Amino acid sequence: MKKKAIRINTLKIEIDKLIKNLEDKGYILEKINYCDYGFFVNENGRNIAHEIEHWLGYFFIQDASSMLIPIILDAKKDDLILDLCAAPGAKTTQIAQMMENNGCIVANDVREDRIKALSFNLERCGVLNTIVTMLDGVKFLKKCNIKFNKILLDVPCSGTGVYEDVKITENQIKRLTTLQKALLKNSFNCLDKDGYVVYSTCSILKEENEDVIEYCIKKFGLETVEIKNFERYNLKESFLENTYRLEQPYQEKFFVCKLMK
Ligand SMILES: C[S@@+](CC[C@H](N)C(=O)[O-])C[C@H]1O[C@@H](n2cnc3c(N)ncnc32)[C@H](O)[C@@H]1O
Repeated sequence: MKKKAIRINTLKIEIDKLIKNLEDKGYILEKINYCDYGFFVNENGRNIAHEIEHWLGYFFIQDASSMLIPIILDAKKDDLILDLCAAPGAKTTQIAQMMENNGCIVANDVREDRIKALSFNLERCGVLNTIVTMLDGVKFLKKCNIKFNKILLDVPCSGTGVYEDVKITENQIKRLTTLQKALLKNSFNCLDKDGYVVYSTCSILKEENEDVIEYCIKKFGLETVEIKNFERYNLKESFLENTYRLEQPYQEKFFVCKLMK
């Protein structure tokens, strides 16, 4: 059983004010230790998704693990960030919040239905610093002449870290890992020389995680870099240097690493 969590959207409301509103309605909030604006929520028989504050974009319902990825990306006010597989925008809206609506994000996704959800969420959350594009990620990276200083690759994956009963065939894994490698390889065409890429999946499969990274290190000369303070984020270092897994009870399982060239 997962613990529901919310991220308070500081683009729209102060943290204390929303906590008071929700506690007055009977919700019990418990702070997530690595995120000042993230809270586990005990709904006490209610449904927080139905609250007006949700529709107004005062908070985003987001798994606690997912909140960690923009923190690792370390989004800053003057960044130019590419979020290549962005829909429905949980992480994009958090990145915009961390940038206080400064700098610029390009948020891309390949699926029209998911782009609609992304655009809706950007609007709901009062995000003003984001341009939305709809392209296959590999095509985007091959065509784009802009150099970003940070790129988030929250790649399509099997979802085995979220749903325990996912049935996935070897062929599907092969297709996914081919795409994951192509996205990672080509992301470096669009990266500033001092920039970095954060690669993340919500998969527990080694094929989509360490194996993809190891392949790209050997084949394309990419390097993983340490995620500072990883213990503070409850991350466990994996067998491949500077790659990490988040496997906390009641949360989605994630794999994450930071890469440079
Ligand atoms: C893990 S989800 C992203 C979740 C999102 N980052 C968030 O935090 O809300 C992966 C996304 O990759 C998109 N995707 C799949 N194939 C793609 C491709 N070839 N190029 C770009 N995006 C792709 C999917 O439509 C999906 O929205």
